[in-house]
Amino acid sequence: MDNHEISSFRKVLRRFERLMSNLQKKNVCCSGITLPQSHAILEIEELGETTTVHLSKNMGLDKSTLSRTIDGLVTIGLVQRHPHPSDRRSVLITLTDQGKKTCNEINIANDKYYSNVFQSIANEKHGDIIRCFEILVGAMTGQRSVVTCQSPVTTEAKDNELMSSQSYFDNVAGQWDTMRKDFFSESVREKAFATANIRADKLAADIGAGTGFVTEGLISNGLKVIAIDQSEAMLDVLRKKFDGIDCRAGRAESLPVQDETVDYVFANMYLHHVEEPPAAIREMARIMKTGGKLVITDLDEHDFAFLREEHHDRWMGFKRDDVTSWFTDAGLKNVQVDCVGQDCCSDSCDGTASAKISIFVASGTKL
Ligand SMILES: C[S@@+](CC[C@H](N)C(=O)[O-])C[C@H]1O[C@@H](n2cnc3c(N)ncnc32)[C@H](O)[C@@H]1O
Repeated sequence: MDNHEISSFRKVLRRFERLMSNLQKKNVCCSGITLPQSHAILEIEELGETTTVHLSKNMGLDKSTLSRTIDGLVTIGLVQRHPHPSDRRSVLITLTDQGKKTCNEINIANDKYYSNVFQSIANEKHGDIIRCFEILVGAMTGQRSVVTCQSPVTTEAKDNELMSSQSYFDNVAGQWDTMRKDFFSESVREKAFATANIRADKLAADIGAGTGFVTEGLISNGLKVIAIDQSEAMLDVLRKKFDGIDCRAGRAESLPVQDETVDYVFANMYLHHVEEPPAAIREMARIMKTGGKLVITDLDEHDFAFLREEHHDRWMGFKRDDVTSWFTDAGLKNVQVDCVGQDCCSDSCDGTASAKISIFVASGTKL
């Protein structure tokens, strides 16, 4: 795009921003709540029952900002918090009946407004407009979060961000191998393989396989591999490296593998990205044969919040006792959590923080 096009685009964008700002003020006045509260209500409605962590990720807000927004909504009776039934570190958030009513009012007002707007645009252009917005939002969220070090993001920009873990990894797929080398080295997978005591010709699943860091090590040790990841873009990079590899797109909560299929399951730097770690561990245990081993390498608990912002981490590492309980609750035996003996390292984009986090290796056997 040349400078002239950029300038025209920015001009129309400014007009659009002003229109949106006026519209939002008007709608918010009608429902009597603030703009961030109205966004939170709409997000909660879309997600149904959700956790604070999930909601803060979805809205691109840090947990404390989101907590304040939710506190306000709880006080006025639109949202309620409940303890999570299976994860004591989480709190579930739902809309109250009054919250659902307010949400409905916001939706009706917005639907009516946009329905009138679209009436003045030819029908055949409607799909194009939606697709253009999707492309633009995808490109803008990718630009902000991918490796490049940008100037700090404003709260307003954060409010508007909606980036899933999947789109983050879709965006970094082409650079992941380079990024990964800065985070940790081959010795992490060597430790995982030694812990599992891998044998050639056995079948392993690499969950959250990404571009194939663990898969590569398994193949070179003579194992067969099923590589699973939510991100098609990461899997595309992986596929190009290994001829005929069994690659499957799938998510933590329902892995695309039948019960009792594989001899080993590996997951490196995956657990801190999933929504529900205990459920993800149960799902990995499900696909293991009797005698099979699960080996997870991930981060010990830490307080480097920039990793959530810049690398889309969902959990700030884990307590080893929690991981042990999750393995045990998944029915695994001989559960052990040890040190890999290596740290995961990363510097924040603005140069103010430098993370050095110890890595654990957790293992358990299905008996
Ligand atoms: C930090 S990368 C690690 C990739 C690879 N294991 C490695 O060591 O290089 C995390 C990977 O987990 C995948 N992932 C994150 N959340 C997931 C989920 N809920 N279901 C499936 N895959 C997920 C991401 O797409 C990404 O490829």
